[in-house]
Amino acid sequence: MISTLDIRIEKVGQSRISEMDFHHIEFARKYSDHMFIADYDGKEWKDFRIIPYGNIEVSPANPAIHYGQSIFEGLKAYKGENGQVLIFRPDKNYERMNKSAERMMMPQLPRELFIDAMHELINLDRDWVPDVAGTSLYIRPFMFATDEFIGVRPSDTYRYMIITCPVGAYYPKPVKVKIEEHFTRAVKGGTGYAKTAGNYAASLYPAWLAQQQGYDQLIWTDGQQHRYIEEAGTMNLMFMIDDTLITAPTGDTILAGVTRDSVLTLARDWGVKVEERPLEVQELLAAIKEGRLQEAFGTGTAATIAHIEAIGYRDEQYNLDLGERHFSDKVLETLDAIRTGKAEDKYGWNYIV
Ligand SMILES: Cc1ncc(COP(=O)(O)O)c(C=O)c1O
Repeated sequence: MISTLDIRIEKVGQSRISEMDFHHIEFARKYSDHMFIADYDGKEWKDFRIIPYGNIEVSPANPAIHYGQSIFEGLKAYKGENGQVLIFRPDKNYERMNKSAERMMMPQLPRELFIDAMHELINLDRDWVPDVAGTSLYIRPFMFATDEFIGVRPSDTYRYMIITCPVGAYYPKPVKVKIEEHFTRAVKGGTGYAKTAGNYAASLYPAWLAQQQGYDQLIWTDGQQHRYIEEAGTMNLMFMIDDTLITAPTGDTILAGVTRDSVLTLARDWGVKVEERPLEVQELLAAIKEGRLQEAFGTGTAATIAHIEAIGYRDEQYNLDLGERHFSDKVLETLDAIRTGKAEDKYGWNYIV
């Protein structure tokens, strides 16, 4: 027990881990034995418990279901040397969770509730952290409203939970992305920077339309003019043009990715020129046509780095034949080595369980 929290622990009678084949993990289908739950009664967080993973009951008048007062995070734990478990940058997710909570009128989480509860849960289910190369344990913390009241106002009561699931080796297949000029993911003053349920629900239909045209994901553009590149469905976007790494600045329309921050940190450390600035669609297209685009990729917890092989714009598809991807391949290799404890963690990114 490391925690200063008073957590009641009820262990499973029989672990389900024997059902797992860590060499063939089906993404997000099997969840680890235990889950963490805390409840907010309108004044304070209480009743901390780790119990066997399973269904929960909610009122049919639950405001998270009706009005989407619901936020979440996503991060990963890796198996290191000697069975050590390393969680990658949980403090960044903690900060982002509380930013989301503020925007959605939900209570702040104390740091020990986020970090220590995660520690206890991962420690208990440490056998679920796979050690096959490229695999990891996905951690999903989330909070939702729990009042029994159908009315558009902030709930008084909330539940915070953590569930986890092993995820397989991600073989980054290059993606085809389409520049979206009609639909909008986020607008200035909106909720784009928050990791809240509705942002994702609203993206499903435009993404489905693009998938009908053979694309994997959308490149969202700014909601006012559709002139500047923002981000993709679950990734921030980066482009190497004329030896400069360019990515959109994180304002209120973009999710400030932890992977984004990690990649920019490495780039700056390696002496790569970095520009966090609005990138015009036309500037990107000109760079493609003039052979000045050297690398194009998305960054996110799921894939770390997802190479982009084609960009759709209006009726054109630009196939990117970029050859060697020196920078992004080096980033992927470096992050992998740090997260699994094989390289020195000079930025202090690993939280050890
Ligand atoms: C909309 C969006 N952008 C970017 C990201 C990448 O963020 P991170 O690197 O923290 O996973 C995600 C994934 O969480 C996302 O949902």
